[in-house]
Amino acid sequence: DQDLRDLLLSRIHDVPDYPKPGVMFKDITPLLADAEAFGALTDAFVALCAHHGATKVVGLEARGFILAAPVAVRAGLGFVPVRKAGKLPGATLAQSYELEYGTAEIEMHADALDAGDRVLVIDDVLATGGTAEASLQLIRRAGAEVAGVAVLMELGFLPGRARLESALAGAPLEALITV
Ligand code: PRP
Ligand code: MG
Repeated sequence: DQDLRDLLLSRIHDVPDYPKPGVMFKDITPLLADAEAFGALTDAFVALCAHHGATKVVGLEARGFILAAPVAVRAGLGFVPVRKAGKLPGATLAQSYELEYGTAEIEMHADALDAGDRVLVIDDVLATGGTAEASLQLIRRAGAEVAGVAVLMELGFLPGRARLESALAGAPLEALITV
């Protein structure tokens, strides 16, 4: 609702020219430091888990870990990390994706999900959609279903939502706020 959006927006600080000139960085650390706001954000994501029938919560390294882990605990669901390449000790599935310049790669443990799992992916920001799209490919390659993608913030001036459309295959993209 509007009160939640106002609360969340008031705790996200705009930092101009970070990490490079011309970029407006959305700093969520004031939100994390505010117990009421972080709690309300967590509750909103927990409600999405229930609404979309999630059985697992995936968090995307690094900021997605901070948001997704308390959601998994409050929802009573297991947490699965999708990590930047080279950080997981077991057998992994890897997915590379295009960045503005070059490529990046993320990984998930190959046995982290079961065939019957329905996974909600949680991250802080949807920008170009590359990270979220790659995570959906990992989840499907692992044989699990996508319950949806939930982000704190969608950057509405970038085509992330359109980029995600085919990977979502009808699953919802939930953005608590659009900036
Ligand atoms: C940021 C952000 C999202 C991603 C969104 O992560 O936290 O995960 O970029 O961008 P995209 O939609 O264009 O893929 P980043 O890896 O920069 O930093 P982090 O490790 O602090 O999360
Ligand atoms: Mg990130």
